[in-house]
Amino acid sequence: MNEIRFVLNGKPQTASGLSPTTTLLNYLRYEKRLTGTKEGCAEGDCGACTIAVGELTGGKLHYRAVNACIQFLPMVHGKSVVTVEGLKGPSGDLHPSQKAIVDTHGSQCGFCTPGFVMSLYAMTLDGTAASRQAINDGFAGNLCRCTSYGPLIRAAENAAQMTTPSWDVERRAQEQTLLTAMASGEALRITHGDNRYFSPVSLDEFSQIYAKFPDAVILAGATDIGLWVTKQMRDLPTLIYTGRVAELHKIEIDNGKIRIGAAATYADAEKTLADAYPDFGELIRRIGAVQVRNAGTIGGNIANGSPIGDTPPALIALGTELVLRRSDDRRRLPLEEFFIDYGRQDRAPGEFVEAIEMPLLENRDQLRCYKISKRFDQDISAICGCFNIRIENNSVADARIAFGGMAGTPKRANAVEAALTGKSWTAETIETAIP
Ligand code: FES
Ligand code: FES
Repeated sequence: MNEIRFVLNGKPQTASGLSPTTTLLNYLRYEKRLTGTKEGCAEGDCGACTIAVGELTGGKLHYRAVNACIQFLPMVHGKSVVTVEGLKGPSGDLHPSQKAIVDTHGSQCGFCTPGFVMSLYAMTLDGTAASRQAINDGFAGNLCRCTSYGPLIRAAENAAQMTTPSWDVERRAQEQTLLTAMASGEALRITHGDNRYFSPVSLDEFSQIYAKFPDAVILAGATDIGLWVTKQMRDLPTLIYTGRVAELHKIEIDNGKIRIGAAATYADAEKTLADAYPDFGELIRRIGAVQVRNAGTIGGNIANGSPIGDTPPALIALGTELVLRRSDDRRRLPLEEFFIDYGRQDRAPGEFVEAIEMPLLENRDQLRCYKISKRFDQDISAICGCFNIRIENNSVADARIAFGGMAGTPKRANAVEAALTGKSWTAETIETAIP
Protein backbone atom coordinates (compact mmCIF):
# COMPACT_ATOMS: atom_id res chain seq x y z
CA MET A 1 0.00 0.00 0.00
CA ASN A 2 1.39 3.43 -0.86
CA GLU A 3 -1.52 5.66 0.01
CA ILE A 4 -2.07 7.11 3.48
CA ARG A 5 -5.58 6.32 4.71
CA PHE A 6 -7.09 7.73 7.83
CA VAL A 7 -10.19 9.40 9.23
CA LEU A 8 -10.23 13.19 9.55
CA ASN A 9 -12.99 14.78 11.61
CA GLY A 10 -15.24 11.80 11.00
CA LYS A 11 -14.62 11.46 7.26
CA PRO A 12 -12.37 8.96 5.44
CA GLN A 13 -9.31 10.59 3.89
CA THR A 14 -6.57 9.49 1.56
CA ALA A 15 -3.32 11.31 0.98
CA SER A 16 -0.59 10.67 -1.54
CA GLY A 17 2.03 12.55 -3.51
CA LEU A 18 3.43 14.29 -0.42
CA SER A 19 6.83 13.98 1.18
CA PRO A 20 6.71 11.47 4.06
CA THR A 21 8.19 14.14 6.33
CA THR A 22 5.27 16.50 5.73
CA THR A 23 4.17 17.38 9.24
CA LEU A 24 0.61 16.64 10.16
CA LEU A 25 0.24 20.30 11.12
CA ASN A 26 1.30 21.53 7.68
CA TYR A 27 -0.99 19.00 6.02
CA LEU A 28 -3.95 20.16 8.10
CA ARG A 29 -3.29 23.85 7.58
CA TYR A 30 -2.05 23.99 3.99
CA GLU A 31 -3.68 20.97 2.31
CA LYS A 32 -6.98 20.86 4.20
CA ARG A 33 -7.22 24.53 5.22
CA LEU A 34 -8.02 23.47 8.78
CA THR A 35 -6.34 26.52 10.23
CA GLY A 36 -7.85 26.20 13.71
CA THR A 37 -4.80 24.13 14.59
CA LYS A 38 -2.01 26.65 15.16
CA GLU A 39 1.75 26.68 14.93
CA GLY A 40 3.41 28.30 17.91
CA CYS A 41 6.82 26.71 18.34
CA ALA A 42 6.96 23.80 15.85
CA GLU A 43 8.89 21.77 18.42
CA GLY A 44 6.34 20.21 20.74
CA ASP A 45 6.60 22.79 23.50
CA CYS A 46 3.60 25.12 23.34
CA GLY A 47 0.57 22.92 22.60
CA ALA A 48 -1.00 25.36 20.09
CA CYS A 49 -1.08 22.51 17.54
CA THR A 50 -2.74 19.98 19.85
CA ILE A 51 -5.10 17.55 18.12
CA ALA A 52 -6.63 14.25 19.22
CA VAL A 53 -5.54 11.05 17.51
CA GLY A 54 -7.72 7.97 17.87
CA GLU A 55 -6.30 4.49 17.53
CA LEU A 56 -8.01 1.12 17.56
CA THR A 57 -6.58 -1.08 20.28
CA GLY A 58 -8.29 -4.31 21.26
CA GLY A 59 -11.25 -3.35 19.06
CA LYS A 60 -11.79 -0.06 20.93
CA LEU A 61 -10.98 3.45 19.86
CA HIS A 62 -8.72 5.38 22.23
CA TYR A 63 -7.96 9.05 21.69
CA ARG A 64 -4.85 10.85 22.83
CA ALA A 65 -3.74 14.46 22.61
CA VAL A 66 -0.61 14.88 20.48
CA ASN A 67 1.35 17.76 18.96
CA ALA A 68 0.59 17.87 15.22
CA CYS A 69 3.70 19.98 14.56
CA ILE A 70 6.09 17.08 15.18
CA GLN A 71 4.07 14.19 13.81
CA PHE A 72 4.65 13.20 10.21
CA LEU A 73 1.54 12.69 8.12
CA PRO A 74 2.09 8.95 7.36
CA MET A 75 2.20 8.24 11.10
CA VAL A 76 -1.61 8.67 11.23
CA HIS A 77 -2.21 5.95 8.63
CA GLY A 78 -5.04 3.77 10.00
CA LYS A 79 -5.88 6.29 12.74
CA SER A 80 -8.48 8.94 13.37
CA VAL A 81 -7.54 12.63 13.58
CA VAL A 82 -9.79 15.14 15.32
CA THR A 83 -9.07 18.85 15.06
CA VAL A 84 -10.87 21.73 16.74
CA GLU A 85 -13.04 22.12 13.63
CA GLY A 86 -14.36 18.60 14.17
CA LEU A 87 -15.83 19.20 17.61
CA LYS A 88 -18.98 21.17 16.97
CA GLY A 89 -22.35 19.48 16.69
CA PRO A 90 -24.43 19.10 13.50
CA SER A 91 -26.35 22.31 14.28
CA GLY A 92 -23.20 24.21 15.16
CA ASP A 93 -23.51 23.57 18.92
CA LEU A 94 -20.30 23.96 20.86
CA HIS A 95 -18.79 20.81 22.29
CA PRO A 96 -18.72 20.80 26.14
CA SER A 97 -14.92 21.28 26.06
CA GLN A 98 -15.49 24.50 24.08
CA LYS A 99 -18.56 25.67 25.98
CA ALA A 100 -16.88 25.17 29.36
CA ILE A 101 -14.01 27.45 28.30
CA VAL A 102 -16.43 30.10 26.99
CA ASP A 103 -18.43 29.95 30.22
CA THR A 104 -15.39 30.59 32.44
CA HIS A 105 -13.88 33.25 30.13
CA GLY A 106 -10.90 30.95 29.66
CA SER A 107 -9.92 32.31 26.27
CA GLN A 108 -8.24 35.58 25.42
CA CYS A 109 -6.60 34.78 22.10
CA GLY A 110 -7.00 32.46 19.17
CA PHE A 111 -3.50 31.10 19.30
CA CYS A 112 -3.46 28.94 22.39
CA THR A 113 -7.22 28.37 22.74
CA PRO A 114 -7.72 25.63 20.09
CA GLY A 115 -4.88 23.67 21.72
CA PHE A 116 -6.44 24.02 25.17
CA VAL A 117 -9.81 22.94 23.77
CA MET A 118 -8.27 19.82 22.23
CA SER A 119 -6.35 18.96 25.40
CA LEU A 120 -9.57 19.30 27.35
CA TYR A 121 -11.42 17.22 24.73
CA ALA A 122 -8.84 14.42 25.12
CA MET A 123 -9.07 14.66 28.92
CA THR A 124 -12.86 14.40 28.91
CA LEU A 125 -12.75 11.40 26.57
CA ASP A 126 -10.48 9.32 28.74
CA GLY A 127 -11.90 10.64 32.01
CA THR A 128 -8.64 12.19 33.19
CA ALA A 129 -10.21 15.56 34.04
CA ALA A 130 -11.19 13.94 37.31
CA SER A 131 -8.78 15.63 39.71
CA ARG A 132 -6.93 18.92 39.98
CA GLN A 133 -3.61 17.12 39.57
CA ALA A 134 -4.83 15.37 36.42
CA ILE A 135 -6.08 18.67 34.98
CA ASN A 136 -2.74 20.34 35.76
CA ASP A 137 -0.98 17.47 33.99
CA GLY A 138 -3.43 17.61 31.08
CA PHE A 139 -2.77 21.33 30.51
CA ALA A 140 0.96 21.31 31.30
CA GLY A 141 1.79 21.08 27.60
CA ASN A 142 -0.37 24.07 26.63
CA LEU A 143 1.22 27.45 27.13
CA CYS A 144 -0.83 30.57 27.70
CA ARG A 145 0.92 33.89 28.08
CA CYS A 146 -2.21 35.71 29.28
CA THR A 147 -2.40 33.97 32.66
CA SER A 148 -5.78 32.44 32.08
CA TYR A 149 -4.97 29.10 33.74
CA GLY A 150 -7.39 29.67 36.63
CA PRO A 151 -10.45 29.92 34.35
CA LEU A 152 -9.13 27.08 32.20
CA ILE A 153 -8.79 24.78 35.19
CA ARG A 154 -12.32 25.72 36.29
CA ALA A 155 -13.48 25.00 32.74
CA ALA A 156 -11.93 21.52 32.89
CA GLU A 157 -13.59 20.83 36.24
CA ASN A 158 -16.94 21.94 34.80
CA ALA A 159 -16.49 20.00 31.54
CA ALA A 160 -15.93 16.80 33.52
CA GLN A 161 -19.45 17.23 34.97
CA MET A 162 -21.17 17.95 31.62
CA THR A 163 -23.13 15.31 29.75
CA THR A 164 -21.52 14.22 26.51
CA PRO A 165 -23.90 15.15 23.68
CA SER A 166 -25.37 12.22 21.76
CA TRP A 167 -23.96 13.57 18.47
CA ASP A 168 -20.45 13.36 19.90
CA VAL A 169 -20.98 9.75 21.00
CA GLU A 170 -22.43 8.88 17.58
CA ARG A 171 -19.54 10.55 15.76
CA ARG A 172 -16.99 8.52 17.66
CA ALA A 173 -18.94 5.31 17.00
CA GLN A 174 -18.87 6.24 13.32
CA GLU A 175 -15.11 6.83 13.47
CA GLN A 176 -14.65 3.41 15.03
CA THR A 177 -16.71 1.80 12.24
CA LEU A 178 -14.68 3.59 9.58
CA LEU A 179 -11.35 2.64 11.13
CA THR A 180 -12.40 -0.98 11.55
CA ALA A 181 -13.36 -1.14 7.88
CA MET A 182 -10.11 0.57 6.92
CA ALA A 183 -7.83 -1.73 8.96
CA SER A 184 -6.00 -3.75 6.35
CA GLY A 185 -3.03 -5.05 8.33
CA GLU A 186 -0.93 -4.18 5.28
CA ALA A 187 2.45 -2.52 5.42
CA LEU A 188 2.65 1.04 4.09
CA ARG A 189 5.49 1.98 1.73
CA ILE A 190 5.80 5.46 0.32
CA THR A 191 8.30 6.66 -2.25
CA HIS A 192 8.45 10.36 -2.97
CA GLY A 193 11.38 11.50 -5.11
CA ASP A 194 14.47 10.24 -3.28
CA ASN A 195 12.60 9.76 -0.01
CA ARG A 196 11.29 6.44 1.25
CA TYR A 197 9.01 5.66 4.16
CA PHE A 198 8.34 2.15 5.43
CA SER A 199 5.68 1.29 7.96
CA PRO A 200 5.94 -2.48 8.53
CA VAL A 201 3.35 -4.34 10.60
CA SER A 202 5.48 -7.20 11.99
CA LEU A 203 8.78 -7.35 13.80
CA ASP A 204 10.33 -9.72 11.28
CA GLU A 205 9.41 -7.40 8.44
CA PHE A 206 10.77 -4.42 10.37
CA SER A 207 14.02 -6.26 11.03
CA GLN A 208 14.43 -7.28 7.38
CA ILE A 209 13.80 -3.76 6.09
CA TYR A 210 16.31 -2.28 8.54
CA ALA A 211 18.92 -4.91 7.63
CA LYS A 212 18.42 -3.90 3.98
CA PHE A 213 18.53 -0.15 4.71
CA PRO A 214 20.92 0.17 7.68
CA ASP A 215 21.30 3.92 7.06
CA ALA A 216 17.59 4.46 7.54
CA VAL A 217 16.34 6.53 10.45
CA ILE A 218 14.11 4.56 12.80
CA LEU A 219 11.06 6.66 13.55
CA ALA A 220 9.10 6.02 16.74
CA GLY A 221 7.20 8.93 18.35
CA ALA A 222 8.98 11.67 16.34
CA THR A 223 9.25 13.85 19.47
CA ASP A 224 12.91 14.36 18.58
CA ILE A 225 13.06 13.41 14.90
CA GLY A 226 10.20 15.80 14.18
CA LEU A 227 12.52 18.64 15.20
CA TRP A 228 15.22 17.41 12.81
CA VAL A 229 12.78 18.45 10.10
CA THR A 230 11.05 21.50 11.60
CA LYS A 231 14.14 23.09 13.18
CA GLN A 232 17.17 21.64 11.43
CA MET A 233 15.53 21.33 7.99
CA ARG A 234 17.22 17.96 7.55
CA ASP A 235 16.38 15.68 4.70
CA LEU A 236 15.62 12.15 5.92
CA PRO A 237 15.90 9.95 2.85
CA THR A 238 14.71 6.70 4.46
CA LEU A 239 12.43 6.35 7.45
CA ILE A 240 11.21 3.12 9.06
CA TYR A 241 8.29 3.63 11.43
CA THR A 242 7.92 1.38 14.50
CA GLY A 243 4.40 2.50 15.41
CA ARG A 244 2.45 -0.31 13.72
CA VAL A 245 4.68 -3.18 14.87
CA ALA A 246 2.54 -4.74 17.61
CA GLU A 247 5.42 -6.79 19.08
CA LEU A 248 7.36 -3.59 19.79
CA HIS A 249 4.49 -2.21 21.89
CA LYS A 250 4.18 -5.10 24.32
CA ILE A 251 4.67 -4.53 28.04
CA GLU A 252 4.99 -7.72 30.07
CA ILE A 253 5.83 -8.69 33.62
CA ASP A 254 7.34 -12.13 33.87
CA ASN A 255 9.93 -13.97 35.89
CA GLY A 256 10.69 -11.04 38.18
CA LYS A 257 11.24 -8.63 35.26
CA ILE A 258 9.41 -5.96 33.36
CA ARG A 259 9.93 -6.18 29.61
CA ILE A 260 8.98 -3.12 27.58
CA GLY A 261 8.90 -3.18 23.80
CA ALA A 262 11.01 -0.41 22.30
CA ALA A 263 8.00 1.32 20.69
CA ALA A 264 5.88 1.50 23.87
CA THR A 265 5.16 5.13 24.61
CA TYR A 266 5.82 6.79 27.94
CA ALA A 267 2.04 6.94 28.40
CA ASP A 268 1.74 3.19 27.71
CA ALA A 269 4.47 2.30 30.21
CA GLU A 270 3.74 4.91 32.87
CA LYS A 271 1.33 2.88 35.00
CA THR A 272 3.40 -0.32 34.96
CA LEU A 273 6.55 1.58 35.88
CA ALA A 274 4.80 3.72 38.51
CA ASP A 275 3.36 0.60 40.17
CA ALA A 276 6.75 -1.09 40.25
CA TYR A 277 8.90 1.95 41.07
CA PRO A 278 6.82 4.93 42.27
CA ASP A 279 9.65 7.44 41.90
CA PHE A 280 10.26 6.38 38.30
CA GLY A 281 6.55 6.92 37.64
CA GLU A 282 6.89 10.46 38.97
CA LEU A 283 9.95 11.01 36.78
CA ILE A 284 7.99 9.88 33.71
CA ARG A 285 5.17 12.27 34.63
CA ARG A 286 7.74 15.05 34.25
CA ILE A 287 8.93 14.07 30.77
CA GLY A 288 7.66 16.69 28.34
CA ALA A 289 3.91 16.98 28.73
CA VAL A 290 0.96 14.71 28.00
CA GLN A 291 1.19 15.34 24.24
CA VAL A 292 4.87 14.32 24.25
CA ARG A 293 4.35 11.32 26.53
CA ASN A 294 1.53 10.12 24.27
CA ALA A 295 3.91 9.96 21.31
CA GLY A 296 7.48 9.58 22.67
CA THR A 297 8.83 6.12 23.40
CA ILE A 298 11.19 4.71 26.00
CA GLY A 299 13.13 2.91 23.27
CA GLY A 300 13.55 6.21 21.44
CA ASN A 301 14.73 7.94 24.59
CA ILE A 302 17.49 5.32 24.87
CA ALA A 303 18.43 4.88 21.21
CA ASN A 304 18.65 8.63 20.72
CA GLY A 305 21.65 8.57 23.09
CA SER A 306 21.15 12.01 24.60
CA PRO A 307 23.20 12.62 27.76
CA ILE A 308 20.14 14.27 29.29
CA GLY A 309 17.51 11.69 28.34
CA ASP A 310 15.30 11.28 31.40
CA THR A 311 14.85 7.51 31.50
CA PRO A 312 18.46 6.19 31.18
CA PRO A 313 19.60 7.21 34.71
CA ALA A 314 16.63 5.41 36.28
CA LEU A 315 16.98 2.42 33.97
CA ILE A 316 20.74 2.11 34.60
CA ALA A 317 20.20 2.36 38.36
CA LEU A 318 17.68 -0.48 38.07
CA GLY A 319 20.18 -2.73 36.23
CA THR A 320 18.32 -2.66 32.90
CA GLU A 321 19.40 -4.78 29.98
CA LEU A 322 18.72 -3.99 26.35
CA VAL A 323 17.69 -6.63 23.85
CA LEU A 324 19.33 -5.62 20.57
CA ARG A 325 18.40 -7.28 17.32
CA ARG A 326 19.90 -7.36 13.88
CA SER A 327 18.09 -9.43 11.29
CA ASP A 328 17.43 -12.67 13.25
CA ASP A 329 20.33 -12.27 15.69
CA ARG A 330 19.78 -10.96 19.20
CA ARG A 331 22.17 -9.94 21.95
CA ARG A 332 21.74 -8.55 25.42
CA LEU A 333 23.65 -5.60 26.79
CA PRO A 334 23.65 -3.81 30.15
CA LEU A 335 22.23 -0.37 29.37
CA GLU A 336 25.26 1.53 30.69
CA GLU A 337 27.46 -0.26 28.15
CA PHE A 338 25.25 0.91 25.29
CA PHE A 339 26.37 4.51 25.73
CA ILE A 340 29.96 4.64 24.47
CA ASP A 341 30.55 8.36 24.08
CA TYR A 342 28.64 11.51 23.20
CA GLY A 343 26.60 10.65 20.10
CA ARG A 344 28.03 7.10 19.95
CA GLN A 345 26.18 3.98 21.00
CA ASP A 346 27.06 0.30 20.82
CA ARG A 347 24.74 -0.45 17.93
CA ALA A 348 25.93 -2.09 14.72
CA PRO A 349 24.54 -1.03 11.33
CA GLY A 350 21.11 -2.59 10.92
CA GLU A 351 20.84 -3.33 14.65
CA PHE A 352 17.99 -1.88 16.68
CA VAL A 353 16.68 -1.83 20.24
CA GLU A 354 13.94 -4.45 20.42
CA ALA A 355 13.10 -4.40 24.13
CA ILE A 356 14.18 -3.11 27.50
CA GLU A 357 14.19 -5.40 30.53
CA MET A 358 14.49 -4.37 34.14
CA PRO A 359 14.28 -6.37 37.37
CA LEU A 360 11.46 -5.84 39.83
CA LEU A 361 12.68 -4.73 43.24
CA GLU A 362 11.84 -6.32 46.59
CA ASN A 363 11.22 -2.86 47.96
CA ARG A 364 9.44 -0.59 45.46
CA ASP A 365 10.74 2.53 47.17
CA GLN A 366 14.36 1.44 46.89
CA LEU A 367 14.69 3.47 43.68
CA ARG A 368 14.74 7.23 44.15
CA CYS A 369 14.88 9.65 41.22
CA TYR A 370 15.72 13.37 41.31
CA LYS A 371 15.32 15.57 38.26
CA ILE A 372 16.64 19.12 38.41
CA SER A 373 15.26 21.43 35.74
CA LYS A 374 14.41 25.11 35.44
CA ARG A 375 10.67 24.38 35.28
CA PHE A 376 8.86 21.53 36.99
CA ASP A 377 6.82 20.56 33.94
CA GLN A 378 7.67 20.37 30.27
CA ASP A 379 11.42 20.85 30.68
CA ILE A 380 14.54 18.83 30.01
CA SER A 381 16.81 17.76 32.85
CA ALA A 382 19.74 19.91 33.81
CA ILE A 383 20.77 16.94 35.93
CA CYS A 384 18.95 13.73 36.73
CA GLY A 385 20.23 11.41 39.46
CA CYS A 386 18.75 8.00 40.28
CA PHE A 387 19.66 5.94 43.32
CA ASN A 388 18.89 2.25 43.80
CA ILE A 389 20.23 1.46 47.25
CA ARG A 390 19.42 -1.80 49.01
CA ILE A 391 19.74 -1.67 52.75
CA GLU A 392 20.00 -4.86 54.83
CA ASN A 393 20.47 -4.82 58.60
CA ASN A 394 21.14 -1.11 58.41
CA SER A 395 24.04 -1.51 56.03
CA VAL A 396 24.28 -0.95 52.27
CA ALA A 397 24.03 -4.36 50.63
CA ASP A 398 24.06 -2.97 47.10
CA ALA A 399 24.14 0.46 45.45
CA ARG A 400 23.55 1.40 41.84
CA ILE A 401 23.64 5.13 41.18
CA ALA A 402 23.39 6.77 37.77
CA PHE A 403 23.35 10.34 36.52
CA GLY A 404 22.34 12.10 33.34
CA GLY A 405 23.58 15.56 32.41
CA MET A 406 26.97 15.15 34.15
CA ALA A 407 28.99 13.86 31.16
CA GLY A 408 28.71 13.11 27.45
CA THR A 409 26.66 10.00 28.26
CA PRO A 410 24.49 8.81 31.14
CA LYS A 411 26.93 7.26 33.62
CA ARG A 412 27.13 5.22 36.81
CA ALA A 413 28.74 6.85 39.84
CA ASN A 414 31.09 3.92 40.44
CA ALA A 415 33.24 5.57 43.12
CA VAL A 416 30.21 6.61 45.15
CA GLU A 417 28.68 3.15 44.84
CA ALA A 418 31.96 1.62 46.09
CA ALA A 419 32.16 4.11 48.95
CA LEU A 420 28.67 3.15 50.13
CA THR A 421 28.56 -0.61 49.60
CA GLY A 422 29.09 -2.63 52.78
CA LYS A 423 28.98 0.46 55.01
CA SER A 424 26.45 1.33 57.70
CA TRP A 425 23.57 3.38 56.34
CA THR A 426 24.32 6.55 58.26
CA ALA A 427 24.60 10.25 57.52
CA GLU A 428 28.33 9.95 58.09
CA THR A 429 28.66 7.22 55.44
CA ILE A 430 26.76 9.38 52.98
CA GLU A 431 28.94 12.43 53.77
CA THR A 432 32.08 10.33 53.23
CA ALA A 433 30.76 9.02 49.90
CA ILE A 434 30.20 12.51 48.48
CA PRO A 435 33.09 13.07 46.04
FE1 FES B 1 4.06 24.37 19.64
FE2 FES B 1 3.30 22.30 18.19
S1 FES B 1 3.40 24.33 17.58
S2 FES B 1 3.74 22.33 20.29
FE1 FES C 1 -3.90 32.72 24.17
FE2 FES C 1 -3.22 33.11 26.66
S1 FES C 1 -5.26 33.23 25.81
S2 FES C 1 -1.88 32.89 24.96
